[in-house]
Amino acid sequence: MDLKSKIVQQNLPQHIAIIMDGNGRWAKQSGQPRLFGHSNGVRAVREVTEASAELGIKYLTLYAFSTENWNRPEMEVMGLMSLLVDTVGKELDTLLKNNVRLRSIGDLSKLPNSTKDALERAILKTKDNTGLTLILALNYSSRWEILDAVNKISKDIRNGFLPGDINESVFSNYLSTVGIPDPELLIRTSGELRISNFLLWQLAYTELYFTDTFWPDFSRQHFYEAIDSYQSRERRFGKTSEQLETS
Ligand code: FPP
Repeated sequence: MDLKSKIVQQNLPQHIAIIMDGNGRWAKQSGQPRLFGHSNGVRAVREVTEASAELGIKYLTLYAFSTENWNRPEMEVMGLMSLLVDTVGKELDTLLKNNVRLRSIGDLSKLPNSTKDALERAILKTKDNTGLTLILALNYSSRWEILDAVNKISKDIRNGFLPGDINESVFSNYLSTVGIPDPELLIRTSGELRISNFLLWQLAYTELYFTDTFWPDFSRQHFYEAIDSYQSRERRFGKTSEQLETS
């Protein structure tokens, strides 16, 4: 069965977020170092990005490096940082050709200069693209993001810029995802059943999809399977099925 042709365009998620997990275990299976898993993970990044652009998905957020990932062995951290520089550099033309806009969430200021510069350059060069927005979560954690928002709000209140009550919409404007709709679908690979400090505010009503596939093995077909599962679900947002039928 061709899963792509099963996907209903009218019920496509606008925003898909992915926790790319299992690179290390994938490498270990064949006796290779962890970085070999990360390098092979880039193929899957390319595949889901292409598939998203083709389907007409508007936003794709990839959890590429969390604030906790700094605790990994230095060689792995440095390897990941140069893999990012390399990948962003190599893929920039393809992003431009395919009208993909690159964005990031997370505290980029703590990244090595070469990584930060490569990213900022690609973000600037692609800023006017109008197709898929590819968002890399880098040095990101949701608790950092929420605290950062609270601190900015408190500063604006002290300076008299924020006179009214704080509602959901005001709060969302202080998050790093400002202007981006909440994801309708979250995918996590490698069989782990956790959110791991990712988009905690934004995932309030998101459909969750977990697969045992390790990230480097994650293909277009796996991606279509996740979207197909999403399309089979009833999203009630607290209402009953009967209410949805009559609306
Ligand atoms: C999690 O697997 C993966 C990461 C922390 C890094 C993801 C990075 C990439 C796929 C490469 C570059 C990305 C871009 C966007 C160009 P893990 O190492 O935690 O795997 P494990 O749980 O099996 O140890």
